[in-house]
Amino acid sequence: MTKILFVNASPLGRNGMTHILQKAFLEGAQKAGAQLEEVFLNKKDIKPCRGCFSCWIKTPGKCVIKDDQAELLEKCLWSDLLVLATPLYVDGMTAQCKTFVDRLIPLAQPEFVLEKDHCRHPQRFDRKWKFLLVSNCGFYEKDNFDALVFHCQRMCLNFHAEYAGHILRPHGPVMQYADMLGAEIAKIIEAVRGAGEEVAKSGKLSEDAMNAVSAPIIPRSAYIEGVNVYWKQELAKLQKQS
Ligand SMILES: Cc1cc2nc3c(=O)[nH]c(=O)nc-3n(C[C@H](O)[C@H](O)[C@H](O)COP(=O)(O)O)c2cc1C
Repeated sequence: MTKILFVNASPLGRNGMTHILQKAFLEGAQKAGAQLEEVFLNKKDIKPCRGCFSCWIKTPGKCVIKDDQAELLEKCLWSDLLVLATPLYVDGMTAQCKTFVDRLIPLAQPEFVLEKDHCRHPQRFDRKWKFLLVSNCGFYEKDNFDALVFHCQRMCLNFHAEYAGHILRPHGPVMQYADMLGAEIAKIIEAVRGAGEEVAKSGKLSEDAMNAVSAPIIPRSAYIEGVNVYWKQELAKLQKQS
């Protein structure tokens, strides 16, 4: 039975678009019999890494900062699959997500080894680990995720983890308009549910599953128009109040 740790790294937590994807993904994974654990980083106290390397020398495998990351490291060691769910922030992961992954370094050892012609740190705990990326973004095009995908793939090499694939939702904010775009959004939710089921069963996502969750929901021109109307209205509301 696959053990999945789903880490929601949106500052909006349960109120964000990431959570819409999370619910569908976990429904699918649960259907396939996976064991699930969910974490909302916006509810956790995780301070930035101090770069002191105590976790490699003075207290091997343990960070000197006393906060919620110790509990999350335990959960990571329990899991077979780590799902990093971060909205796209300035072409990358959120600060909360980066802080969390920086603080995973107690899982590595200080030495260098040569692997596939690259320097790597051996892992401290002998285990097979997989990473899956879940992201959504405000811009329309899917290639906005390119830098984040590359980053997560490189991170997998550093953590000796297998990249299990990604669930990428461009023009993510439309996911909240199920009242207006019911059929289109239901299709995406179903695709995300299917992706959760597939990854829980096989440990990775097929190209077909990844493409289905990223399919366009509305035409780009309509999206741009809708977004601009939205921001105009928000600004007008504020002007009325003042
Ligand atoms: C600080 C900040 C930076 C952002 N940077 C990008 C970006 O580089 N590209 C993009 O397409 N969307 C960007 N967005 C939009 C978010 O990715 C989008 O609103 C997303 O739906 C938020 O997900 P959430 O509701 O789960 O937090 C940014 C939003 C914020 C607040």
